Amino acid sequence: MKIIGTGSARPSMRVTNSMLENFLDTNDEWIVTRTGIHERRVISNENLEDMAADAANKALADAGITSDQVDFIICSNVVNEFVTPGLGCIIQGKIGATCPTVDINCACTGFLYALDIAESFLITKDMNNILIVCAEEPSRMMDWRDRSSCILFGDAAGAVVVTKGDDLKAIRLSTHCKVEALYQKRRLQPTPFLNKEEDDGGVIMNGQEVFKLAVSSSIKDIDTVLSVAGMTADDIDLYVLHQANVRIIEAIRHFVKQDKEKFPVNLDKYGNTSSASIPALLDDLSRGNMLKRGEMLLLSAFGAGFTTGAAVLRWSK
Ligand code: COA
Repeated sequence: MKIIGTGSARPSMRVTNSMLENFLDTNDEWIVTRTGIHERRVISNENLEDMAADAANKALADAGITSDQVDFIICSNVVNEFVTPGLGCIIQGKIGATCPTVDINCACTGFLYALDIAESFLITKDMNNILIVCAEEPSRMMDWRDRSSCILFGDAAGAVVVTKGDDLKAIRLSTHCKVEALYQKRRLQPTPFLNKEEDDGGVIMNGQEVFKLAVSSSIKDIDTVLSVAGMTADDIDLYVLHQANVRIIEAIRHFVKQDKEKFPVNLDKYGNTSSASIPALLDDLSRGNMLKRGEMLLLSAFGAGFTTGAAVLRWSK
């Protein structure tokens, strides 16, 4: 496969660290030093469905194709206002496509899982263009009284169009069941037969455990994809990592012993936008003319599950 178009959309509301000080026992200095985040975008009056369709339409326009040329839509999403139908179905209608769609919930690693599914479908099925849309509103999952988690996240949508090509040099996905490190449960509708208590509330996260899991799994994945691709860390031009915490990115950077310039960061402005993080960053880089044809990118992400994934991808757009 190869990427031929990118797009992104973000809510208009900017929530700075100092705005959080109004209702949380926190401060800008703590958040910046521990995470690198200065502000994030949070849904106020937008709908995630519209943001997802906006990102998708921008990716289609960038690819120079129309929605009737899309053969399959893969939507990565953890939560949105619709329990059913899947967000991919709603996006399909909004952009005027007619192809089948599937939703995946692989948390922050969703984009890597979607890339691998797209690659497999391009090889095994009679398809040309696959649209991947990662649309997330983690702000609606947080307990906004929990200062250790709500400060980290922001909402966004990121999309790419992929077609047949030879740019994916290696990809590795993994899942190690570790529910207690990062999860959210919700209370479902009662029934006349229900005889148990159900949890309801915001995301529960063991920040330090997630930090360690993120760094250790990401460096393992990076090692693997580099060796599958027959490359060394020096051969990679840009490390496009999941934007969760600048300290996690720094720890990974020290492991691969590469310059800071190879690690683009936008989490200072947007926080952790779950699976939208990597495609939206790719879109920012592409539209900012910061990606050159032929460059080798290494993508790596991790998230609730614990899911992880990494890929080596040539940029040929
Ligand atoms: N403002 C001020 N103080 C805060 C705070 C906040 N927003 N959040 C937590 N603290 C306090 C804690 O209560 C604790 O106080 P104590 O020492 O009096 O008990 C202290 O800061 C240190 O907390 P700790 O949890 O040890 O901080 P940390 O250095 O581990 O940083 C995270 C916390 C969440 C920033 C960090 O663990 C992290 O980024 N983990 C990864 C999370 C992640 O990326 N999740 C998504 C994965 S996809």
